[in-house]
Amino acid sequence: MKRVAVFRKEHFNAAHRLFNPAWDDRKNAEVFGKCSYPNYHGHNYEVVVKVTGTPDPQTGFVMDMKLLSDLIRVHVIEEFDHKNLNLDTPFFREMNPTAENIVMVIYDLLRSRIDPALGLRVRLYETERNFAEYPEE
Ligand code: NI
Repeated sequence: MKRVAVFRKEHFNAAHRLFNPAWDDRKNAEVFGKCSYPNYHGHNYEVVVKVTGTPDPQTGFVMDMKLLSDLIRVHVIEEFDHKNLNLDTPFFREMNPTAENIVMVIYDLLRSRIDPALGLRVRLYETERNFAEYPEE
């Protein structure tokens, strides 16, 4: 059976700060640059969710896009939008909110809620030019 991919793109704004508490301010500034400023800063994140599978013969859908959109909104956007990722979410207390770590958290939030027969891949844009994808190819 032929498999096809469908995509849903969503958006959220969030603040973060990258730092390693084991390092002093100088080392943090060296490694993380502006992303380590102590008073946090924001990004306009774009998240692209890719679902792959065989279209259902009755609907022609790989997945109901309304359902996918609702899952992303409830479990990702409402969790992260207008939040401080370090302080206001439970995910980044012990882990830096880099694009790499955020995209893996988003994947886990969605994976358990999407039919295991369907493939899932998530891409997160921190800026237009910097983005991360999980799982890797
Ligand atoms: Ni940043």
